[in-house]
Amino acid sequence: MRALQLVLATANPDKAAEITDILASVPGLVVVPRPDSVPEIEENGDTLLDNARLKAFTLVEATGMAAVADDTGLEVDALGGAPGVYSARYSGENATYADNVAKLLTELERRGATVPARRAARFRTVAVVGLPGGDEVLAEGEVTGVITAGPKGEGGFGYDPIFAPDGHDGRTFAQMQPHEKHAVSHRGQAFRAVAARLAEWRNEPRS
Ligand code: IMP
Repeated sequence: MRALQLVLATANPDKAAEITDILASVPGLVVVPRPDSVPEIEENGDTLLDNARLKAFTLVEATGMAAVADDTGLEVDALGGAPGVYSARYSGENATYADNVAKLLTELERRGATVPARRAARFRTVAVVGLPGGDEVLAEGEVTGVITAGPKGEGGFGYDPIFAPDGHDGRTFAQMQPHEKHAVSHRGQAFRAVAARLAEWRNEPRS
C-alpha cells in the first residue's frame, strides 16, 4: 500500500496539531498542512457532518489532494444540546475560547444547574476524509463527561478547561497530557476510526 497524503482542512491551529498528533502513528498516512492560499470556509451547515464535508471537499477542490476535516460540538444536556454545531461562536462571531467558556458557565448557573448531576455533557466529532473523485470516508467519536464549576488546567484549548470526561477523577481535558486526552477524546476516537476505515477502503478492489 503506497503512502496516502492527506491535506488538513482545518484553519484552527489547535485542531490541526491534535489531528496531526493522532494520525502520526497511523502507518501509510502523511498529513500535510492546509495551504495558506485557501480562503476561510464559512461553516454554514446545520449539522457537524455537513460542516465536516464542506471543509474536506473545499480542500479537495482547491488542492486536488485527499483532504481530512472534522467538525466538533459540545452538547450540554441542561442547555438542550447547545452549543452543539454552534460551539465556535456560542457567545457571538469572533468569540474567543474564554468568551465561550464564560457564556456556558453563566447559562448553566442561570438555569440553576450547579451540581454535577445537572451538568452532563458530551463532545461529538464527525471526521471526514474527502477523496478526489467524490468518495468519502466518515467516522464519529463521542466522549461523555460533566461541565466543571469553573476552569481548571492550562492544557488543551476551547472548552477543555471546563470539561471533565467520565472516569478520570474529575480532571478536565486541560489538566491532562495530550496523549491522555487523545486516548479518550471525541477527536481521538473519530480519527482512529477514520484511519481504520480508510485502510479498509484502500484495500478494496475498485472497478
Ligand atoms: P469546530 O467547529 O469543529 O472548528 O469547533 C468548534 C469549537 O468547539 C471550537 O472553536 C472550540 O471552541 C470547540 N472545540 C472543538 N474541539 C474541542 C476540543 O477538543 N476541546 C475543547 N473544545 C473544542
